[in-house]
Amino acid sequence: MQELLIDLGTRSYPIFIGAGLLSRSDLLLPVFAGKASGDTFAVVTNTTVAALYLDAVRSALAGKRVFDVILPDGEQHKTMATVERIFDALAAARMNRDGALIALGGGVVGDMAGFAAACYQRGIAYVQMPTTLLAQVDSSVGGKTGVNHRAGKNLIGAFYQPVGVFADTATLDTLPERELGAGLAEVIKHGMLADAAFFHWLEDHLDQLMQRDPEALAHAIRRSCEIKARIVAMDEREAGVRALLNLGHSFGHVIEAATGYRDWLHGEAVGSGLLMASDLSHRLGWMSESDLHRVETVLKRAGLVRPAPRIGVDRALEYMGMDKKVRQDRIRLVLLKPLGQALVSAEYSTEALRGVLNSHFGAM
Ligand code: NAD
Ligand code: GLY
Repeated sequence: MQELLIDLGTRSYPIFIGAGLLSRSDLLLPVFAGKASGDTFAVVTNTTVAALYLDAVRSALAGKRVFDVILPDGEQHKTMATVERIFDALAAARMNRDGALIALGGGVVGDMAGFAAACYQRGIAYVQMPTTLLAQVDSSVGGKTGVNHRAGKNLIGAFYQPVGVFADTATLDTLPERELGAGLAEVIKHGMLADAAFFHWLEDHLDQLMQRDPEALAHAIRRSCEIKARIVAMDEREAGVRALLNLGHSFGHVIEAATGYRDWLHGEAVGSGLLMASDLSHRLGWMSESDLHRVETVLKRAGLVRPAPRIGVDRALEYMGMDKKVRQDRIRLVLLKPLGQALVSAEYSTEALRGVLNSHFGAM
């Protein structure tokens, strides 16, 4: 097992990474010390994950008062109405501020359960138990919680840190192939934005990762969490440097929005977005041709390069938040200068951006 710390002063917390962590009461109970004095725990999960892993978590809480909140599975349920169901269950169980919540599942469960923990009685302690690769390397760490709204994804939310993260790598054995790829996109993102040596390691170990080699996965999760932890510690509420974690997201967002958030997983859209951000960085002379080729090769090997919807450059610009009428209003993009070092910049030519968008979204 490996352990690292998110350093946020009085809100610091440990991240545990390893196989078989879900049932480890010796690790779980101490993280609540001084934060939840009661003996009542709510385990929030979904139908899919409950069938696989709820018993393990319940065994870690033997002797405590435990109740489950089992939500429907799917991004379409990441809404206030579903969070309301969590509140109903907490209130029905007469949970008070001494109680604690455990978020068991992927990013959808983690974001909703974290948001419920932030709001219920103005905040109760919670733990993240991420069971997808994406959640283990990204969404369970850093305290962003929330739900979608008709008007936008993750529009309603709060920054609210957990008291601990338990990334049980054994849960990845049951993860569908596509979900594994979506998580790998975020791992590759971390190498690209902050650590060229880690990117190189990924080139060497991608096959092992795709075959779910436990040691390779544990290393990739640890390095991703270290990179994210360092950035979050510098800028918890995304006033500056945390925006670097959005590498590939502005481009990925075009794909997700154009396809109605249905056909592509978020991580898959980010994967294609990483290639587009690299392409633009190369056109600006910030990233070499050979590094662009390396990025494309890794993404292809991870199954993350597929044709984007041919919606045309103007619609793509609109989805990026650049209105046709106010073309001077260029948004700031996360780009690479060079591979392994990201920056936020509006210092790119619109011409170069249009070139990138044309090659990915332009008419065939
Ligand atoms: P998800 O939570 O929908 O999980 C993907 C699928 O895998 C679901 O069907 C789930 O039930 C299933 N599943 C989960 N664990 C499993 C396991 N071990 N075995 C078998 N099946 C399993 O998707 P996700 O990719 O984990 O998360 C995506 C969400 O995360 C999005 O809503 C996104 O907005 C959010 N997100 C949040 C942050 C953040 O910082 N808070 C960062 C990135 C993404
Ligand atoms: N997923 C980006 C962030 O947590 O800031």
